Amino acid sequence: MSFDTIIRGGTVVTAADTFACDVGIRDGKITALGHDLGPATAIIDATDRLVLPGGIDSHVHFAQPSGDGIVMADGFASGTRSAAFGGNTTVLPFCLQEKGQTLREALKHYHSLADGECHVDVAFHLIVTDPTEHVLGQELPALVEDGYTSLKVFMTYEGLALSDRELLETMSVARETGAMLMVHAENFDAIRFLTDRLERAGNTAPRFHATSRPIPVEREATHRAISLSELVDVPIMIVHVSNREAMEEIRRAQQRGLRVMGETCPQYLMLTEKDLDQLNMEGAKYVCSPPPRDVASQQACWEGLQQKVFSVFSSDHCPFRYDDPQGKLAPKGRTSFRWVPNGIPGVATRLPILFSEGVVKGRIDLNSFVAFSATNHAKIYGLYPRKGTIAVGSDADIALWDPKRKVTVRHELIHDGADYTPYEGLEVTGWPVLTMVRGKVVVDDGTLVGSKEHGTYLPRAKPPTGATIP
Ligand code: URP
Ligand code: ZN
Ligand code: ZN
Repeated sequence: MSFDTIIRGGTVVTAADTFACDVGIRDGKITALGHDLGPATAIIDATDRLVLPGGIDSHVHFAQPSGDGIVMADGFASGTRSAAFGGNTTVLPFCLQEKGQTLREALKHYHSLADGECHVDVAFHLIVTDPTEHVLGQELPALVEDGYTSLKVFMTYEGLALSDRELLETMSVARETGAMLMVHAENFDAIRFLTDRLERAGNTAPRFHATSRPIPVEREATHRAISLSELVDVPIMIVHVSNREAMEEIRRAQQRGLRVMGETCPQYLMLTEKDLDQLNMEGAKYVCSPPPRDVASQQACWEGLQQKVFSVFSSDHCPFRYDDPQGKLAPKGRTSFRWVPNGIPGVATRLPILFSEGVVKGRIDLNSFVAFSATNHAKIYGLYPRKGTIAVGSDADIALWDPKRKVTVRHELIHDGADYTPYEGLEVTGWPVLTMVRGKVVVDDGTLVGSKEHGTYLPRAKPPTGATIP
């Protein structure tokens, strides 16, 4: 057999194994694993490199409407480009249903934004904000059959938050259709109450964003989301968990046999609320929800990963430019933290941070790194085994890592549409030096060599029912 490409001399790592092996690739698929595989059009030398499944980031926001006069810093071209530089080969952005819009209309719009604009492969989660009878009774079941097999619901944010009744109705449809339900768990009324009180006292600087949504706000909503899902008997994913109390709610649910999964993100391992407390408006760079907490919360999130309470590690990449009136420094944002757009960039730094802080510092092993960064995303969101592993028959989606390379994170390495990275100056060990999507190299040693026509949309299977939580 001949190959288009052989990746030779590297160490292949999957979520289960680590072994020295060459990888033979043909027509975008992995077609052989072994030694002395024979002739190939191209040989990639992987000596001293780790050959990992390309990262799958199942929580990113591109081109999402974000409020009056606010523009997200990344569309699909720059967002997927940055993803590729960070060793990712698939991303799952959200398709937001605006109030009054049908899900099909929202999807049509997102597809038109994404078509021909993706450096890596993409699939969409739906965000349901208007769960009308038509949406829940007709559209959603049909869309799940069409391969849109996951949706996110919000318990907070003006225009996005669902009532408990609406959450239950939406959860029921997720159960009936077998879709995966992601929950943003924060108590909207508590945030509004605290925000009003802070503003009345003149406490409007970015750092009060953290004060307006303290840990009980997240813990209560996490508990409530779990209770509601228990009533309906539907699996859920609690996204962007920031602290011990929310993590322990998930652990307790798992110990009771509920199919409750958790996700955490780099900001909850690396940042604290002190980052929001900076001169002038600089703290706005770190405004995201839930907010970064404290060192003990970081430790709890590591524990959540180490003890597999969390299944996935995602970026929640939600970029806004800092020095820009359409971004963090929007005119209203200067009057109160209430108006600072929520979200921070991170699709390119997710994997280097987890590798360096997790694997190199001995907190997690290499196979867990692969599970948290790729395999579990594919399993939970219906892309496995096409994506998320290195196996014969899987797409040749590969990130070649130099595990020893020391890099100082600088925004110029990120290649996104934002004008800063929250991790500027961070020293990491280990860096993705080549990213391959379906057999085609898209980033080679810091140079973009792929095109934005290469990424493709991925319809997805339903997540396996009754399966053990990864
Ligand atoms: O602050 C955040 N996380 N913004 C992104 C939207 C979301 O809730 O995931
Ligand atoms: Zn969220
Ligand atoms: Zn998000």
